[in-house]
Amino acid sequence: MSALAFVLNGREVEIGEAAAQTPLLDLIREQGLTGAKEGCAEGECGACAVLVVDADGRPGKSALRVVNSCLMLSALAAGREIYTVEALATNGVLSDAQRAMAGAGGSQCGYCTPGFVVSLFAEQHRPDRTGPCEDEALAGNLCRCTGYRPIHDAAAALGAAPDGPLLRRLERAAPVLHAVSVGGFSRPATVGECVALLAATLDARLVGGATDLGVERNLRAKTWPHLISVEAIDELQQFTSTPERVLIGAALPLREIGERWRDAPDAVHEWLTLFGSPPIRNRATLGGNLATASPVGDGAPLLMALDAVLHIAGPSGSRTLPIAQFFTGYRKTALMPGEMLTAIEIPKPLPQSVRFFKIAKRRADDISTVALGVSLDVDRGRVRRARWAFGGVAATPLRVVEAEAAVSGGPWNADAVARVQAVLDKTLRPVSDHRGSKEYRLEVSKSLVEKYYWELQS
Ligand SMILES: Cc1cc2nc3c(=O)[nH]c(=O)nc-3n(C[C@H](O)[C@H](O)[C@H](O)COP(=O)(O)OP(=O)(O)OC[C@H]3O[C@@H](n4cnc5c(N)ncnc54)[C@H](O)[C@@H]3O)c2cc1C
Ligand code: FES
Ligand code: FES
Repeated sequence: MSALAFVLNGREVEIGEAAAQTPLLDLIREQGLTGAKEGCAEGECGACAVLVVDADGRPGKSALRVVNSCLMLSALAAGREIYTVEALATNGVLSDAQRAMAGAGGSQCGYCTPGFVVSLFAEQHRPDRTGPCEDEALAGNLCRCTGYRPIHDAAAALGAAPDGPLLRRLERAAPVLHAVSVGGFSRPATVGECVALLAATLDARLVGGATDLGVERNLRAKTWPHLISVEAIDELQQFTSTPERVLIGAALPLREIGERWRDAPDAVHEWLTLFGSPPIRNRATLGGNLATASPVGDGAPLLMALDAVLHIAGPSGSRTLPIAQFFTGYRKTALMPGEMLTAIEIPKPLPQSVRFFKIAKRRADDISTVALGVSLDVDRGRVRRARWAFGGVAATPLRVVEAEAAVSGGPWNADAVARVQAVLDKTLRPVSDHRGSKEYRLEVSKSLVEKYYWELQS
């Protein structure tokens, strides 16, 4: 197989340098496979969902991951094995997921149906599934006309995955991603190679899961002179948890953080559930989330509350930086030219109490209007350490140090809450946009402090 090819429904497909930055969805449809569709082109609706054979926690085996093919730039498929809805029926016999959707009346116009079927199929084939198919697996799929009850019924009707070519496929390992270097696309295998490429290639842009860059490509017609994928760098995929720290590779997909950090505080698992949707979490990375420096990004508030330290590699070697010093202005970071994020370190012991609150227009698959990451350590009735970190209230994610000072050393009570709120009144400078007015954002931020207080009381 050539460096820039992948296997689609069992057949090798050449990507071609000219198509490297086009959405995988376009390439798939050009093959005559028109089940996957473009609905939104920004990862919100799931009409373009396809299945990627990916590594699984079980050695030598694999799993099917749902991804939004509208966001996946074609070159990122190089070396992978991908299946579309057309591959799910065997010898003309519909798969369980297809039969269940038809039987439950889960489809009217049918535009969204292939995407739902793909998500249901992946959920039915999830290796660690013990109970019924979870509705959460469908959180990345939208239907405009059927309504969700019949779709929920279809999910509830699915039992264990029956024998079939794709179930048997999962008994073998996923393809290993090798280094690639063609025209305007590179996929180095080590941090050293990546840093050297960044230094040698003018205007090169790193790409992780492309859940931000894919949107830029589709909605703003953006292309890049050279893309460097970080997906084949083992060091960036690491996850370790020791008594001293948790270390998360900058290119580890968010889903894996939840799977591998099993004893993480509940706040981490809640934060992950509120982050995008399953297809987004199958691709999105923490490195991409922090580097994109969105003021409403959800990674920074929680990581600030946990006092995370960022590991950075660049032409002058490696360095570390506390996350509170990383954001230097609107969409600006402390990364110097040629530098990249390699890992996120969370020091232990973890705070006694940590919480993440996200206020958005929808519970699932939405961007924050306001987010709060908060942590608290109280010793003998006195606050020893507090962190208040907000998203959506300034040009950057913001750790409000004055609010921390306002409670340190004193009792954690209603007066302390009022002091934090008074600081927020003076320091937060949110802006108004279609998600919320500046007044709303300020009031919500203050009420989240109160909500946290009452939650702790109960
Ligand atoms: C439908 C949808 C829902 C979303 N929901 C949420 C949400 O709930 N919360 C939220 O915070 N975000 C959300 N996002 C935004 C996005 O998913 C996240 O920001 C994600 O973490 C980006 O990671 P990525 O690997 O896909 O980044 P990419 O798109 O690959 O890259 C983003 C930026 O980071 C840079 N970059 C990537 N890796 C590195 C690295 N290792 N070192 C330095 N720079 C790097 C790239 O050059 C680029 O500038 C959503 C996006 C979509 C499309
Ligand atoms: S077209 Fe809507 S998620 Fe891809
Ligand atoms: S059946 Fe029409 S959008 Fe879902």
